[in-house]
Amino acid sequence: MDKTRQVRLFNKQAVQYKTRKEGAALRSWRQKLLRHATGEVLELAVGAGANFPYYPDGIKLTATDFSPDMLKHAREAAAGYSLDATFILADIEELDFPDHSFDTIVSSLSFCSYEHPLHVMQKIKRWCKPDGHILLMEHGISSNRVVSIGQRVLNPLLLRTIGCHHTRNIPDIVRQSGMFIERSESHMLNMVHLLWVKPEK
Ligand SMILES: C[S@@+](CC[C@H](N)C(=O)[O-])C[C@H]1O[C@@H](n2cnc3c(N)ncnc32)[C@H](O)[C@@H]1O
Repeated sequence: MDKTRQVRLFNKQAVQYKTRKEGAALRSWRQKLLRHATGEVLELAVGAGANFPYYPDGIKLTATDFSPDMLKHAREAAAGYSLDATFILADIEELDFPDHSFDTIVSSLSFCSYEHPLHVMQKIKRWCKPDGHILLMEHGISSNRVVSIGQRVLNPLLLRTIGCHHTRNIPDIVRQSGMFIERSESHMLNMVHLLWVKPEK
């Protein structure tokens, strides 16, 4: 999808992201994953800042998103949680950081949106310190045949209306990038994955 159109789609959803009340499962997954964040943290595609309540004290956050409206809400949310945060308005597929810049890299529900998810995975492998870790909560294709057929059928419509793919196999993309999945949990018929990833074995 054309990037300008995709940014417009996410701008339109920004108020919804800011005001929605997430279910207990999503909140507990965020909490379970993010308590492992330490040091210099990069969060990809931060949205309206849904992860902010779950960061441990003392981290230093760099948060990115290509939607100005999402980033505006994230900035306001960070102030509410007194987070030490810097915000970068950029397409993560175009952005670069020096190798080994971050102790922790976080992404929740963002790899569904990228045009080249493997390319982004390879970048975060490089940006993460060798002893750092990458925390992912991502959704994708179910291992249940019936559900996966539904996902494939609905994918073109969902991509057009909310800017996100529903048929990706995120654990596979992590493995293809050369990173190592240290721990994983799958939920909702394997549609949602929590992944604790090391850049190297
Ligand atoms: C489904 S939302 C998830 C937001 C947040 N991470 C969360 O857990 O609620 C996807 C986010 O990715 C952002 N995004 C999508 N593609 C992007 C890209 N190429 N570069 C930067 N941000 C992107 C969107 O603007 C949106 O805020």
